[in-house]
Amino acid sequence: MVNDFIYNSNLNQISEGVSTWKSPSNIALIKYWGKKPNQIPLNSSLSFTLNSCYSQTKVSYQKRKNNNKNFFFLFKGKSKPSFENKLSEFFKRIEKYCPYLFQLELKIESSNSFPHSSGIASSASSYSALSLCIMDIEKKLNPSLSDSFFFQKASFISRLGSGSACRSTIGFFSIWGKTKLYKESSDLYAVKYPNNIHEIFNNICDTVLIVDKGKKEISSTIGHKLMEEHAYSKDRLVQAEINLEKLKNALEKGDYDLFIKVVELEALSLHAMMMTSDPYFILIKPNTLLIINLIWNYRKEKNSKICFTLDAGANIHLLYPKKEFNLVQEFIKNDLAQFCESKQFINDSIGNGPFKL
Ligand code: DP6
Repeated sequence: MVNDFIYNSNLNQISEGVSTWKSPSNIALIKYWGKKPNQIPLNSSLSFTLNSCYSQTKVSYQKRKNNNKNFFFLFKGKSKPSFENKLSEFFKRIEKYCPYLFQLELKIESSNSFPHSSGIASSASSYSALSLCIMDIEKKLNPSLSDSFFFQKASFISRLGSGSACRSTIGFFSIWGKTKLYKESSDLYAVKYPNNIHEIFNNICDTVLIVDKGKKEISSTIGHKLMEEHAYSKDRLVQAEINLEKLKNALEKGDYDLFIKVVELEALSLHAMMMTSDPYFILIKPNTLLIINLIWNYRKEKNSKICFTLDAGANIHLLYPKKEFNLVQEFIKNDLAQFCESKQFINDSIGNGPFKL
């Protein structure tokens, strides 16, 4: 329940301190697309965290001396007014749950291990890292907090920053959004994938191809909003649940072909929703389609287990088993690189989740 996360302990003993967390980004296989008020997702989503694409956030805090701003934000050592506005909004949203933050002056220093607008969700990793730092402050005020509550509340508050961030506070595979398929699931926070996952998925690689370096024309937040009045909204919810069940079977039984089918169907369905909303929009580029066709041909010819997924943009995440790494690198170099705007490929793999520094 939402009320479980309201802070009602002492506010007096706040002193100063520093907390630093590293949190990975994540890539969704079942896509979160569409939300209700208060960042409640329309459908449940499933993702895995990445290994080397992460945000590192340091929060230094001391007692607030006056009524001036309660936080300062630096990205790679420089101030970023556009982020500050988003952060103010975030702090307002979490005020009820973390009132102690308003008794403090925070200096938030953040950086990402990956380039901006690369198709890797920096909002997910950065809100996750920040929320974990905030929970460190709460733990200082209330040392009896259990580890499970610590991470659950971190996921809960990071969701109020960016929905997909709540899946980054938990490593490996996680799910967010209530579904009858997993009794542990919740709309309020993400949970670790509760069932066994077949070992063939233990070392999935994710190489991001930057097809388009530009900033996307429509933010995810607007895209989510358009699902409210979308003609296919109800059917999309049914489809997402069916796909989640299929992916559950694939993950648990080790069925890679079913995995590929569901992951690609989800990526294309996400973009189909964008193309059929009012107003409609297209975020993929001609080269995105070209590359998708090359992936399909390659998979057939080489009997490969490579597949793709997309987020709300033109860039492509290539997913494949680690044993295919060298062959896939050759494929990228020889056939795909020419259709990418950046020749810098981000090679990552499934990872273990956030950790405190
Ligand atoms: C396409 O989490 O960025 O990446 O909650 O408005 O911050 P907000 O949206 P955001 O949406 C991510 C959408 C997606 C799919 C996904 O990650 O599940």
